[in-house]
Amino acid sequence: MKAIILAGGSGTRLYPLTKAISKQLLPVYDKPMIYYPLSTVLLAGIREILLITNPEYVELYRNLLQDGSQIGVHIQYAVQEIPRGLPDAFIIGEKFINSDKCMLILGDNIFYGQGFSNLLKKAVKLEKGALIFGYYVKDPRAYGVVEFDSNMNVISIEEKPEKPKSNYAIPGIYFFDDKVVELTKTLRPSKRGELEITDLIKKYLELGELKVELFGRGFMWLDMGTFDGLLEASNFVETIQKRQGFYIGCIEEVAYRMGYIDKEQLYKLGYKMRNSEYGRYLMELAGES
Ligand code: G1P
Repeated sequence: MKAIILAGGSGTRLYPLTKAISKQLLPVYDKPMIYYPLSTVLLAGIREILLITNPEYVELYRNLLQDGSQIGVHIQYAVQEIPRGLPDAFIIGEKFINSDKCMLILGDNIFYGQGFSNLLKKAVKLEKGALIFGYYVKDPRAYGVVEFDSNMNVISIEEKPEKPKSNYAIPGIYFFDDKVVELTKTLRPSKRGELEITDLIKKYLELGELKVELFGRGFMWLDMGTFDGLLEASNFVETIQKRQGFYIGCIEEVAYRMGYIDKEQLYKLGYKMRNSEYGRYLMELAGES
């Protein structure tokens, strides 16, 4: 399975913060936003990664993440000229996907909680169809919403409904089989002129090939695309990191724990940033055993 991280969009909901910089490079406590979804991809065990962003930002991401070899993965870059919606990622990434299965994660989504890595491990084993997640929120109107019956069969999927049929929002992490490019090509733009991820999900629903897993009560998912979401995520990360001493979204640590890099490489990466607490955290980890 491959992974696409979508870091495009105009970010106008965060103006003026994002007038001159890509939203997914904004700081979320002590690291750039993109580290969080990237760490999730690493945790899923996927090492072939395509990052899609606007033409003016590609070099910024390349400066930050290079080709990924320093953390034991392979990162390629592609541009989205105009925001044509989330499924456009599969058109842009057609060659990269190369008839493989593909995970899509949004560059402004952060996930954290017990049992997450096991869920991911299960998700990457997907053979056929699509797998999405549901997360209970008080107000799901800003999201895709999934409704199901008492047997967990999906009844409906709607994008940003005014009157949601359930409280289950669909977070920005999706797993699709090798039909994803072909099905994306059958989509038509919605009223807002974009291809909608929920329309793609509905295609799988029509085929009877859609699975939904729920994130539980103690799980944390935030969309950092609003001022509140951004601040809430920063506060959350700070609270956990200070209290437990474990970092969230630390790509070097995940790469090390997944066995993509060795202790020496981890130390080297930390040493380059030794003036920051982040760098010293990596050095300590490398010295821990
Ligand atoms: C997108 C999707 C929506 C999903 C959300 C998750 O919305 O269209 O279905 O629930 O991401 O973050 P956006 O936030 O891009 O408007």
